[in-house]
This record gives sequence, structure tokens and C-alpha cells, in this order.
Amino acid sequence: MKWKTAFLSALLVTSSFYATPAGLFEQQAAQAAPGKSGAAFDQKVIARIDEERMYEDVYHLTETIGPRVAGTEAEKETADFLEQRLESYGYEVEVQEFSIPDLVIGHLHTESGDEVLINIPSGSAATAEEGLTAQLYDAGLGYPADYNAEAAGKIALIQRGGFTFAEKVQNAEAAGAAGVLIYNNVDQAGPLNPSLGGNEMDIPVGGITKASGEALKADVLAANGTVTLTVQAFEGATSENIIATRTPKKGGSDGIVHVSAHYDSVPFAAGASDNASGTAVALEIARVLKSYPIDEEVRFVFVGAEEIGLLGSRHYVSELTESEVARSTGNFNMDMVGTSWDNATAIYMNTLDGQANIVTETAKATGERIGTPSELILYQRGSSDHVPFYEAGIPAVNFIRREPGTASLEPYYHTPLDTIEFISAERLKEAGDLVGASVYQLIRK
Ligand code: BES
Ligand code: ZN
Repeated sequence: MKWKTAFLSALLVTSSFYATPAGLFEQQAAQAAPGKSGAAFDQKVIARIDEERMYEDVYHLTETIGPRVAGTEAEKETADFLEQRLESYGYEVEVQEFSIPDLVIGHLHTESGDEVLINIPSGSAATAEEGLTAQLYDAGLGYPADYNAEAAGKIALIQRGGFTFAEKVQNAEAAGAAGVLIYNNVDQAGPLNPSLGGNEMDIPVGGITKASGEALKADVLAANGTVTLTVQAFEGATSENIIATRTPKKGGSDGIVHVSAHYDSVPFAAGASDNASGTAVALEIARVLKSYPIDEEVRFVFVGAEEIGLLGSRHYVSELTESEVARSTGNFNMDMVGTSWDNATAIYMNTLDGQANIVTETAKATGERIGTPSELILYQRGSSDHVPFYEAGIPAVNFIRREPGTASLEPYYHTPLDTIEFISAERLKEAGDLVGASVYQLIRK
């Protein structure tokens, strides 16, 4: 264990999270550079973290590129953008490619050519390339008794509720339906994602919003019109992690700090908060920290395929050698750090065990020194790229904005409303200052 880690671990067993002795890092700073305080080092970072640049990067990722679903061209375009930018800052950049499950893409069109937003769950069958064009059949909730001979060859339109999505599809299959559309029974901004629980179906399946389901009933079903459902599976899909590394000159410590942010998004969401925000902040910290002498290695890991099961970060951590894992000081993972949602006044520091570690302690001390306006809350939660780091034994934290008390995320999460409209440049700056100055405390001379 590195000395800094050992030092903080010793501290953690004797003090509660909120009782970190003030001045700890000032002492370290004084030892490292007599005459300079931790606060002076913070200023070197926060004076240069540029909120406009971060906001522009969020704009580029969300308005110019748009949804960045794992395995798609848009995800690749984002990876190229990140690689070029990091190289322009002078980093050594590795493009780490990895395989992901077949990419399934679906479209639903009415006869008049209107596109209806649709989510295809894994386990859906594919259609022929030209799609499946068929009439709709109103199957209610989709119980066996909801079907008659009319259903054969049609696309069953089924309402969510009562029993599982997989059983609804099986009942439709048994009745001879050629496909299934399941519509939501509550209003949500994005189309329903009707998870089939690992079952493989023989017919194509899609999820749509409540409003789309009702509109199809009123407009298409009532007029005996048709819809065209296209489901295509692309084999051999890949995603990429973009890794920018800076190592200290000879004589430095052998520690490694990993700063991470995923750059992919869910379908139909521009992913401004989730997670163009963390991506833009990590890029800006990389830009600023490139200029200063360091004593410890820092890696900026821009993670692909997070939204389909943390695949990028699992791959990155699995490729670390035993020695690299042992030398890892910590992981600062930023995911959803820039929402302008009024209620999200706190920065949560999510750890897997709910316990403080060197990353939370460093951030807490930094926040106190620089006067971070938001409350910092230690909380137990996974669901982001800090998970694989934690599982490998590396102290890891997800920085994420939430509502204090309820821990709620903004209502735009994973919906088409997750756009630049609800991004706060000021909050990007707050995250950049806090995480940037914290990382610098750990890696600087
Ligand atoms: N940005 C979210 C992070 C998050 C954390 C959301 C905690 C909700 C609670 C992340 O991108 C996400 O959506 N994660 C997935 C899990 C992941 C394993 C696919 C989620 O929480 O549904
Ligand atoms: Zn996310």
C-alpha cells in the first residue's frame, strides 16, 4: 500500500467521515513545498478551470453529435473527438477497443412516414431488412383470452401492466401474432424499455410511450392501417475506452490516480447530464493538469458502453496488471455532475460500501478549503463506473448531483429531455474545481 493510502486509512479508522482534521492536506503541502499552502495549489487549478469551455464541450457532444449509444457511429465519433482533443493537450492517448453484445436497432413508422420512438429489448427477434409491415391488433393487456383468430399475422399492441413483458410476448406468439408493441401505462418522456428477463423471442418486440400507443390505436388501428417495424441486429459491435496518461518524471511516486467519465448515452437521450457533463469536466481537468509538475501518474479514462452494463470500465479494470491495481491510489468517477435541476443542490459522493475512502476524504478537505457551495454527501450506491474499480480493491467514488435527503436524480434522467437546456455551466465549474483540485492534491509534487 502506498504511504498516502496507508496514512489516510489509519486516519479513517479513528475518525468519522465528517471529523477529518482540518489542515491535514495543508500539512502535506507544507512538507512538499515549504511556504506554499494546499490552498495555493488549489488556486493553480481553479483559476484555470474554464466553465465556458466545458459548456461548449457539452454542447458539441449533445447538440452536434447527439445520442451516443454504445457501438454506434455516434459513439465512435465521440471517441475520435476525445482522442484528438487529448492529443492536442499533449497526452499520450490509448484507444482501447472491446467487444460488446450485438447492437440491436429498431424503427417504427406509420404509413404516412411518421417515426414513432421505440426501444428494442434484448431477446427480441430481428425482422427482414425491409421490416415487418402489418396491421395492428388491440390485445388489451395481452392475456390469452384477449386474442382471437384475427390476431394472426398482425402486430399485437399491448398495454403494460398486470404481468411480465416476456409472458405478454409469449401469449402473442401463441396466438400467431407477427410482432409485439408494448406501450406504457404511465407518462414517461422516453419509450418504454420492456425487458424480457433474458428470454429469447421468435417475433420482434418493441416498447413505446403511452402517448404513442394511444395515438396508434386512435389513428392506425381504427382505420385498419399498417405500421412498419424494423429490428436489425449488428454482430461484431465494439466500443472504445479513450485513455490519456501522464507519468511523472523519474523519481516520482509509483501511485496512479484514475479519473473517469462515460461518454456513451442511452438511446433517444442526448445525454447532456448523463454524461456529457462528466466527460466535459474530465476533459477540462485534463487540460489544466497537463501544465503542472506531478509526482504521481494520472490517467483520464473516457469510458464507452457504460449504459449497457458498465462494459467499458469493466474492460479497463480487467486490463490493469496486478501491479497497477496495487499501485492505484483511487478513482474519481464523474457521472451526472452538471444538471441545472433546482432540487439537485448536493454533490453526492457514492461509494459501494457507503464508507469514506481516500477519494471522499480528499474531496471533502478540498471542498472545505475552496468553499464548494454545494453540500457534499457520502452515500452508498453503485450503478456507475466506480463499481469495477471498487471490486478490484481500488478506493472509488462516483460524484453525482442529487437532491439532498431524497437522493433523487433530475426528472430528465434517461429521457429525451436530458439536453443542454438543463445544464448549468456554474455547476460544471463547481465539479471541475472540486475534483480538479482534489486530484491535484494527490498527484502534485
Ligand atoms: N448516470 C447513471 C448513474 C446512476 C447512478 C443512475 C445511480 C441512477 C442511480 C448511469 O449512467 C446509469 O444509468 N446506470 C444504470 C446502471 C448501469 C449498470 C447500466 C442504472 O442505474 O440504471
Ligand atoms: Zn451515466
